[in-house]
Amino acid sequence: MTQELTTSLATEPARSSESPGWWRDAVIYQVYVRSFADSDGDGIGDLRGVRERLPHLAGLGVDAVWLTPFYASPQADGGYDVADYRAVDPLFGSLGDADDLVRTAHELGLKVIVDVVPNHSSDQHPWFREALADRPGGAARARYHFRPGRGAHGELPPNDWESVFGGPAWTRTTDPDGTPGEWYLHLFAPQQPDLDWDSAEVRAEFDSVLRFWLDLGVDGFRIDVAHGMVKAAGLPDIGHTEQAKLIGSQVLPFFDQDGVHEIHRSWRRLLDSYPGDRIGVAEAWAPTAERLALYVRPDELHQAFNFQFLKCPWDAVAMRQVIDESLAATGSVGAPTTWVLSNHDVVRHPTRYADGSPERGLARARAAALLTLALPGSSYLYQGEELGLPEVTDLPDELRQDPAFFRTSPDGQDGQGGQDGFRDGCRVPLPWTRSGKSHGFGPGGSWLPQPDTWSGLSVEAQTGDPDSTLELYRGALALRRELPGLGDGAMSWLQAPAGVLALSRPGFVCTLNTLGEEIELPVPGRALLSSAPLTYEAGTVCIPPDSCAWWAI
Ligand code: GLC
Repeated sequence: MTQELTTSLATEPARSSESPGWWRDAVIYQVYVRSFADSDGDGIGDLRGVRERLPHLAGLGVDAVWLTPFYASPQADGGYDVADYRAVDPLFGSLGDADDLVRTAHELGLKVIVDVVPNHSSDQHPWFREALADRPGGAARARYHFRPGRGAHGELPPNDWESVFGGPAWTRTTDPDGTPGEWYLHLFAPQQPDLDWDSAEVRAEFDSVLRFWLDLGVDGFRIDVAHGMVKAAGLPDIGHTEQAKLIGSQVLPFFDQDGVHEIHRSWRRLLDSYPGDRIGVAEAWAPTAERLALYVRPDELHQAFNFQFLKCPWDAVAMRQVIDESLAATGSVGAPTTWVLSNHDVVRHPTRYADGSPERGLARARAAALLTLALPGSSYLYQGEELGLPEVTDLPDELRQDPAFFRTSPDGQDGQGGQDGFRDGCRVPLPWTRSGKSHGFGPGGSWLPQPDTWSGLSVEAQTGDPDSTLELYRGALALRRELPGLGDGAMSWLQAPAGVLALSRPGFVCTLNTLGEEIELPVPGRALLSSAPLTYEAGTVCIPPDSCAWWAI
């Protein structure tokens, strides 16, 4: 490798000089509330549990916490089915607990982002109950998508759309006299009816919900299914099946419609009307980096999750291409890029990268963490990745809760569970201590069993062990705060052998070896941190397989 710059310079995100904003390079830690820490021993994580463990996050060195939904909900989809947007579900605590959590986080210097779920409500939301009780065409039905069925007796769904969780996206209702009635749209589970954002009432209600949480002091929102709130006029057929496979690669009549941007613009105005930098981050699956960038134009949301990188295979050429495309697309609208390796909806990245070898998966995951934390922009960490937790792949079917599992069977019928994995395996509660009934998750058990091997992966076991993944993250986050060249700003690629990525930032170089064998390079500078031990020979350094190193220059 030489220190010479190549011509392919990644674009420098335009940084607003007046107010760069904390979020432009924030490291944001996702807390899946149900699985983070349980204060009362019912086996389910809760807000008090989160509050008690906030010092772990402050000590880890993150800037903000994103809390997944803790609102009143029948929990048909882990709380992404909200029955009351202003209430805390008793499972997770009370409004007072939410208030305490936000205050404590702020005292510790942590911002708090909460989820908002505007694409759909729960079927137990008072609005949906009213809608069911109303007549076809009635005002209460106009808040959702009710339609008559097709076929001679309305026995066929109104169109061919499929639920993301499998099966049709429509469920037929029963009229008060017991006869089959209209159908309603649910892009996810039947317990999650889609709201109709053409309704002025729906828009006004969500403005009020956002204000409620902003008034309580939250620093922003992660907007669930931000790409889905507007559907193509007339709800046209798609014309083929297996539509879920097209999400993120094609514009579908139910996702990534241009009309969603007007809603996000109006939310931006609302956020800007509050003091401080309150942010909106879009969970948006868009087919290209360019379409994703539309969500983060200057008058829209602040960030959007960059799932293109999450989906990228462990391959230097592919990774470099995604990095360049992501930076160019967000840079063109002056927004920061986000880097995400895992979340509560995907297989944890040590397992995704494993290719049959858990050791290799962990090595790559550690390297990927250093790579992404060295890139310009903001990073999202999913709880447990700082411990190197793998996906749990052997959960008994009877303990699973993910609705996608139950709706996807070989024959497409409910109740069978046709595939392995799904989303429970990344939601197993965190191990905090080596021993104890639930490894310190709480005083009781844990809603999903933790593998015995997690004892050695616990926060307790890894703390103070310089080779542990936890200390690697702590070290990386501390350096990221310290080094002015990291975070927001420019980067460029350095020449490197095939399979190796070398990127340069002011005063800093990061080298990633994606190959299965070690590689020898001229020493780039003073080693700051590496995901695997480096060895030196006169003027050269051996970068181990599947590893990443940070250098001061
Ligand atoms: C988002 C959430 C996911 C949820 C879905 C429906 O994709 O991340 O967990 O199931 O929306 O709300």
